[in-house]
Amino acid sequence: MTYIGQPVKRVDGYDKVTGKAKYAAEFNVPDLLYGYVVSAGITKGTIRRIDTGAALSLSGVVQVFTHENRPHTAWFDMNYKDLDAPPGSPFRPLHDDQIKYSGQPVALVVANTFELARYAASLIEVTYDEETFETDLEAHLHETREPASGLASLLKPPPPKPRGNADEALAAAPVSIKARHVHGAQHHNPMEMFATTVDYGKEDKDGTPFLTIYDKTQGALNSQSYVKSVFNLPASHVRVISPYVGGGFGSGLRPQYQLFLAVMAAKALKRSVRVTLTRQQMFTFGHRPNTVQEVELGASADGTLTALKHSAKAATSQFEDYTEVVVNWSGMLYDVPDTTLAYELKPLDIYTPLDMRAPGGVTGDHAIETAMDALAYELGMDPVELRLKNYSEKNWTEDDKPYSSKELRACFQQGADRFGWSTRNPEPRSTKRGNVLVGWGMATGIWDANRLLARAEAVLTVNGKLRVSSATADIGTGTYTIMTQIAAETMGMPIDDVIFKLGDSDMPWAPFQGGSLTASTVGSAVKQVCEDLSKKLFKLASKPSSSPFYDARWDDVVFADGHMRLKSDLSVAMSLRDIVALNGGRAVSETSTSMPNPLKSGKYSKHVHSAAFVEVEVDEDLGTVTVTRAVTAVAGGTILNPRTARSQIIGGMVWGISHALQEDSKMDHRLGRFMNHNLAEYHVPVNADIHDLDVIFVEEHDDIVNPLGAKGLGEIGIVGMPAAVANAIFHATGKRIYDLPITIDRVL
Ligand code: MOS
Repeated sequence: MTYIGQPVKRVDGYDKVTGKAKYAAEFNVPDLLYGYVVSAGITKGTIRRIDTGAALSLSGVVQVFTHENRPHTAWFDMNYKDLDAPPGSPFRPLHDDQIKYSGQPVALVVANTFELARYAASLIEVTYDEETFETDLEAHLHETREPASGLASLLKPPPPKPRGNADEALAAAPVSIKARHVHGAQHHNPMEMFATTVDYGKEDKDGTPFLTIYDKTQGALNSQSYVKSVFNLPASHVRVISPYVGGGFGSGLRPQYQLFLAVMAAKALKRSVRVTLTRQQMFTFGHRPNTVQEVELGASADGTLTALKHSAKAATSQFEDYTEVVVNWSGMLYDVPDTTLAYELKPLDIYTPLDMRAPGGVTGDHAIETAMDALAYELGMDPVELRLKNYSEKNWTEDDKPYSSKELRACFQQGADRFGWSTRNPEPRSTKRGNVLVGWGMATGIWDANRLLARAEAVLTVNGKLRVSSATADIGTGTYTIMTQIAAETMGMPIDDVIFKLGDSDMPWAPFQGGSLTASTVGSAVKQVCEDLSKKLFKLASKPSSSPFYDARWDDVVFADGHMRLKSDLSVAMSLRDIVALNGGRAVSETSTSMPNPLKSGKYSKHVHSAAFVEVEVDEDLGTVTVTRAVTAVAGGTILNPRTARSQIIGGMVWGISHALQEDSKMDHRLGRFMNHNLAEYHVPVNADIHDLDVIFVEEHDDIVNPLGAKGLGEIGIVGMPAAVANAIFHATGKRIYDLPITIDRVL
């Protein structure tokens, strides 16, 4: 019964491809009302008047909520913080007449049908007193400041203090390079629209309803705790269910405003309500921020780095300090005696940015890893060799802790071998294929291997089937599948007898799915609870004096093939079904908590590493770039399921190509609005843009990160790709393009 490490097919695949899997807007509830959001047409100012008369006069329109008539909620008296909230004051929908950013929700129309609500919304007239606003980061770079520190800094440490004197070291360095990178903003754009369906349910004797809330979220408990706090409801009255998520990428890490509006309307109207956002409205609640970065590197003639400076400036909102870890990665990858890392923010009249796949990591990695490429050319050194020359064995940004494991050398070697790197002619513009230039580039990737506390429940039913649950999410990553594998293997059961459930706030506690920490965090809890359950079964089976296990100790038995067996004589066995029968006709259940041991893991820096190799074709007549093939080698510890793991890395690589060449949320600063807020003008790759992608998992053992030895893979696939693409474009053309995305106009 070995399942861990096997390419088990997705256990949720059938439900997903047949449409049986239900998403937040698909749960049907009797007597449902539909809400449609009216978005602000200005960027900053005051609502002078909202005329809702025409909308309300339509038969079938039930109510229009605005700041003037919205119900009082507990939230308007306090500053509740969701689990992913940065320091500051979270935005409160319909709080008052102030407009803080373009697209802010200003009204919710509730009607008998979605179409009617949408039509009625078009009749609402809002007049504003407009104020001037600032949305342009590049115009305000001299006004940045350090971010406020807050809870977010637990997983997002600020840059370490400078060490040595990077300026002096740079001045003295025989070889140096300097670069400035501007990145545009990006939006997550998951396929599934954000939606919340609130089933109003019964009321208790005080008239407080039992709400069942189907929400699009990466954390059912995060949404539940938000609703509890904002509406002052007891946990028993708020159940959040989210079994499937049609893509998250970070957009579901914070409760979004449709959740607030749907619950508010349901409570006020004492009816079930669904609020679904439009694609355009999904450009109004958080994005990867645009950034401006500067990197300087100094090196001795043999390629040893002697100076490193990396600074980043990013936009945030006027009400929250959204922070990312952008520059620390440079100090992790390269242990340079004279280093200065800096990160600053500029509050602008925009909504608060939001974590988006490898937040900060993919941003900073592009800057440092293209700088390393430029330095390699200055030195006349191979880019892989330069990285090996400066390979760091410890993380000075975390008090010089050693890495719990770091098989990055193997990534370089196996990636280079698979790609054919050794045959590369380093000379730019040296390779042509017909009328296109061919270039090869590479880059290193790094991301966190974090683990938090989680709980899980395991139930062995009277039929001898195992049901394991935890309130985590599966945003498409494969969580259902790997948790089923871990449970089946730990219990020694056939995988078809095991079912894993998630996405329900009634289940044992788990953090939201984000930061590549679910496999490590929830996987450890699932393993723990199955071990605890099997001990319980052992006790049950060894109790009766007639039992063949009567004299046995825990160490004497093994769970395999759906049986408990004596290790010394495997024919002495009891089926799990027979063991449960000893429990008086009741299922046997166990709930366990699993958390890292800081004494053990705290001494180490825990990260996942990768090396990306990319080939591009550049057509200089048209300015087009095609990534013809790419290889990414990943050191991710134990690979729980090579099939789902590969999918994670492939998805990240596709997104890395997209990040490098296509994605850009364009703001018109005269309007303060993202203008390409649709999938026609927000460019993402289609199948024709993606060619040969190859993934290698190098062997890596790590008994520090967690009992499974597995590191998360959700983020690492994207991290090295943009730099590798940019470096390949330089190799092809001899032209260093610093800003992202590298669109046609920048190539020409
Ligand atoms: Mo992701 S940005 O960790 O959901």
